[in-house]
Amino acid sequence: MSHVGIVLGSGLGAFADTLENRFATSYSEIAGWPLSTAAGHVGKLVTGRVAGTDVVVLSGRAHCYEGYTAAQVVFGIRELARRGVTSLIVTNAAGGINSSYRTGDLVLISDHINLTGANPLVGPNDESLGPRFPDMTEAYSPAYRALARQASVELGLELKEGVYAGVLGPSYETPAEIRFLRTIGADLVGMSTIHEVIAANHLSIKVLGISCVTNIAAGILPQKLVHQEVLDTAAAVRDTLIKLLSAIVPRLG
Ligand code: HPA
Repeated sequence: MSHVGIVLGSGLGAFADTLENRFATSYSEIAGWPLSTAAGHVGKLVTGRVAGTDVVVLSGRAHCYEGYTAAQVVFGIRELARRGVTSLIVTNAAGGINSSYRTGDLVLISDHINLTGANPLVGPNDESLGPRFPDMTEAYSPAYRALARQASVELGLELKEGVYAGVLGPSYETPAEIRFLRTIGADLVGMSTIHEVIAANHLSIKVLGISCVTNIAAGILPQKLVHQEVLDTAAAVRDTLIKLLSAIVPRLG
């Protein structure tokens, strides 16, 4: 049976609490889940239904900046595939580079630029999962983006669109790095998502990506970046994101 997988980013975990027939399993109870060398790693896999569609949610994700390899970061995506996921929604908190973006905006990811220097597919290829050299031309499904735009119009929600630059972190960018990212075509910057999307494409899972602009990127405003702003903004868009995800999921199922 075909399921929709959803990865919930920093501060965006509340959607998992809205599922019907909700059943949560701590990552630590799932065999093979990579254990963090970093302290404080929490997360759970939550199954349930949204308007009749089966979903498997990863609430909390691993990041390379915690010390995981890119291959470890995508363990959860391959677990979703094992559980029958054929469509994936990835969400994240991101810094806004595009000058038309405002804090709290939701942005459809149209494409990404992997600047982490890592790729989860490095090493021997498991042909049972996917090809050695997977195509990334439509890494973020145009058809899914059209469905998401349609859902946002029906809900009267503004949904912008842009290119996500994936960086390693954990330090935020310098103003010069943000100018560089803008020059190479990035609208958003963040420290997650791209490896998951590469692994999903390898598995022939179609992807929809949604960023929450939790802060304006470094050097654009005359202020410093603080992680608390990221969490506060994510909390403020909580209900809007839940509405949007609830409307999109049945269309992908
Ligand atoms: N930079 C990188 N990652 C982020 C940011 C940012 O400004 N905001 C949220 N995640």
